[in-house]
Amino acid sequence: MTVLVTGAGGQVGRALVRLGPELGTDVVGLDRAALDVTDAAAVRDAVAGLRPDAIVNAAAYTAVDRAEAEPGAAYAVNRDAAGYLAEAAESAGVPLVHISTDYVFDGTKGGPYAPDDPVAPLNVYGASKAAGEEAVRAVTGRAVILRTAWVFDGTANNFVTTMLRLATERPRLTVVADQWGHPTPAADVARGALAAARRAADGLAGTVHFGGLPLATWHDLATAAVDAGHAAGLSPLVPIDPVPTEAYPTAARRPQRVEFDLTASLEALGLSAAPDWRLGLVEEIQRGLGS
Ligand SMILES: NC(=O)c1ccc[n+]([C@@H]2O[C@H](COP(=O)([O-])OP(=O)(O)OC[C@H]3O[C@@H](n4cnc5c(N)ncnc54)[C@H](OP(=O)(O)O)[C@@H]3O)[C@@H](O)[C@H]2O)c1
Repeated sequence: MTVLVTGAGGQVGRALVRLGPELGTDVVGLDRAALDVTDAAAVRDAVAGLRPDAIVNAAAYTAVDRAEAEPGAAYAVNRDAAGYLAEAAESAGVPLVHISTDYVFDGTKGGPYAPDDPVAPLNVYGASKAAGEEAVRAVTGRAVILRTAWVFDGTANNFVTTMLRLATERPRLTVVADQWGHPTPAADVARGALAAARRAADGLAGTVHFGGLPLATWHDLATAAVDAGHAAGLSPLVPIDPVPTEAYPTAARRPQRVEFDLTASLEALGLSAAPDWRLGLVEEIQRGLGS
């Protein structure tokens, strides 16, 4: 099958382009320069011209803190463009895999979130992504909305690469230890999205959750990143002090604990287990070294 990937220059987009052929899927990746997804006519023309078997939307406005000051820009990509892609997919009669986020939830449930739990975003980014989910559902019944979390690779500007850089610049780090989530390597998101595309072509539709295990804090992820960076000869093994959220003020509020209920989602995607992010972390750092 041929899958059209939008946002192909991002962490997940690049992983989709790289892994597609390995997983038996032809991927046509269009980065922002090749297709601006906020241009509805360009989206329609690209889908009509390429005639893919499925679309994976990996384009998004992902700057969580900046979004607080730029809601218009966040909504244009995360809501409006998601709707354009859903319309184009529906017109072409092909499924859309739309990637969304754990930040649609407020993190106060006190247990794992099921895909049909009500959303309650705490910040503009999360609200714009929740609105994007709704925009997709409103125009097509053949979409899979795949929510993931805490995405990283070894090259982009993200939490993991920031920790590795800071470890070379500072004698010790302080990292928030009271927010919990699913760290998820970009390559695993790509595998999940391609599984969703294959299943969607066979009729799967609806919302699924997909994230790495075990559930972790930012402090856990930072510690594992610095350990792996040290093992790869990238950074010294600096101590990392755990701090509460209040010690690290940010423009956007973040959910304290979003644990996904993954059981039904993994089954729907035909996957036997959630990825172990600790293995993917080492692979992403190794790949980052080679790039
Ligand atoms: N990163 C995370 O921690 C995280 C967590 C949960 C869910 N997600 C979701 O996972 C998906 C992939 O995220 P990611 O981590 O791969 O983010 P990313 O690295 O920021 O990639 C997003 C890509 O979308 C592109 N883009 C932005 N506006 C566009 C436009 N108008 N037209 C076309 N492309 C545009 C960006 O290009 P520019 O670089 O030029 O802006 C970037 O290449 C998104 O749906 C995101 O919401 C991410």
